[in-house]
Amino acid sequence: MATDYDRVPYPCHAHPQTHPAHLAVMARLRGMRPAAPEACRFLEIGCGDGGNLMPMALEYPGSQFLGIDLAESSIERARQSAARFGTSQVEFRAQDIMDLKPGELGQWDYVVAHGVFSWVPEPVRLRLLAVCRELLAPDGVAYISYNAYPGAHLRAIPREMMLYHTKKVAEPEVRVAQARELMRLVAENQSGRDAVSAIVLSEANRVLDSAPNLLTHDDLSPDNQAYYLHEFAALAAERGLQCLGDADYASMFGTRYPAGIRQALARLGDDDVRREQYLDFLSCRRFRQSLLCRAEIKRERQAPLAAIKECFFSSSAKTASPESQLLDDSPVTFLGESDLRGEVSAPIPKLILAALGRNWPARLRFQDLRAVIATAIGSAVPSDAVAGALRDLIEMGAAHVHHAQIRHATTVSERPRVWDWARYQQTIGTSLTSLRHHTIQISDAFGIWLVGQLDGTQTAEAIAQKHALAAKPGPDGKLDAEKALRKARKRVASGIEKLVQFGFVPPDDPGGS
Ligand SMILES: C[S@@+](CC[C@H](N)C(=O)[O-])C[C@H]1O[C@@H](n2cnc3c(N)ncnc32)[C@H](O)[C@@H]1O
Repeated sequence: MATDYDRVPYPCHAHPQTHPAHLAVMARLRGMRPAAPEACRFLEIGCGDGGNLMPMALEYPGSQFLGIDLAESSIERARQSAARFGTSQVEFRAQDIMDLKPGELGQWDYVVAHGVFSWVPEPVRLRLLAVCRELLAPDGVAYISYNAYPGAHLRAIPREMMLYHTKKVAEPEVRVAQARELMRLVAENQSGRDAVSAIVLSEANRVLDSAPNLLTHDDLSPDNQAYYLHEFAALAAERGLQCLGDADYASMFGTRYPAGIRQALARLGDDDVRREQYLDFLSCRRFRQSLLCRAEIKRERQAPLAAIKECFFSSSAKTASPESQLLDDSPVTFLGESDLRGEVSAPIPKLILAALGRNWPARLRFQDLRAVIATAIGSAVPSDAVAGALRDLIEMGAAHVHHAQIRHATTVSERPRVWDWARYQQTIGTSLTSLRHHTIQISDAFGIWLVGQLDGTQTAEAIAQKHALAAKPGPDGKLDAEKALRKARKRVASGIEKLVQFGFVPPDDPGGS
């Protein structure tokens, strides 16, 4: 039977927070011993067209992947991708969550359901949780994302208006058009000057910025049920699961809040779900990515230093302060992603951030960082001191923790090549997945053309010459071929550099690092 997703396709893309390497690290930081991503069994429920699963399967040929989705047309597209890449360790099945028979599927190290829980009817939600328990291996990790309260109350404002406005319309395209029209009127009528008007304006604009298919399956979906974290945790507990935390590690600690708030959080005691619930209140959180494990697992509340010592780390933090200031106790400002600004005074975290920033986007192992610090200070530093500082930095979100080194080149080679999966995505017109499992939407015609050209057979110069051929004459009707070539070289070089920087070029690229 055709589902809404068969009628209105939903192109799926990569979600780095669901990647087995990320889930493995998150579990290790809770003291678990999860399966290695290189040799694991990974199940995605509601996998759609395989946009998340396929690049993982290509990255880990030694692991087994299964994608399940109710929409047959999505599964058909996923199977076509798998057939094209000859990935025999990935299977896609058109199946309803309600019909899953855990006994037949065996146990899985990772079970992921992104964008499913809130958007299916309640019996399916509850079955999804039960299935996670039944399918998880003893050290397995499940990931379930959902709309969260209190922030989701704001989403209800445009949703309820649009549902009322379109209640008699069955045709998805017409519903979207009418819903957008209503949101346009609502947005036009907001001054944005008082609090209510600012919220309504921002929500209406969010809807107007969403792609029509997203709008159909999200705000206009018949089911869109949000949960408070404590409600979700209670439903999971009733089915033999416990919350391991959130896939956004730094969101769990509140270390960035002022001292008064941190003290109030500390007074909440040892109940992590309770603390995180209050953090959700403070940030008016609207979306969650909860990690679950079997209820009987004894998990650590704080990352064991031994686990930190097994990991890799990265940070894009930069400082303008001189090296000498890193060695004393003077405060140094670091600028991170999204204009995040933080002041650090102690030498060990300052030296860690400076070393990571110099190597970004490459990652450093714990022992490499320890060696860098020993060289800077002129004597060995206890390993627990370095691990403790790293733990503080990742809890703050100033550094990121990883399972392994990046798997892409960081320098431009003679004949650059964008990895095969991204070039395939370019041919089918979806957003592109990097080798860091990030999603990037390239919407300009030149960017799309360039990705297609970067197949490892041509030099940047040859590509620039091709691009220059497409140059148009100036207003005087004349074409300055030399100027056009100069412009094309600049454009091609900058485009290639960006693709390398974003992680689209594999390390086996001759000449790449
Ligand atoms: C919003 S999409 C999310 C797809 C993908 N996980 C992503 O995040 O890009 C929800 C997916 O869940 C699937 N789905 C909905 N109900 C289902 C059910 N009862 N059993 C299996 N899949 C279901 C839909 O077909 C759709 O592909």
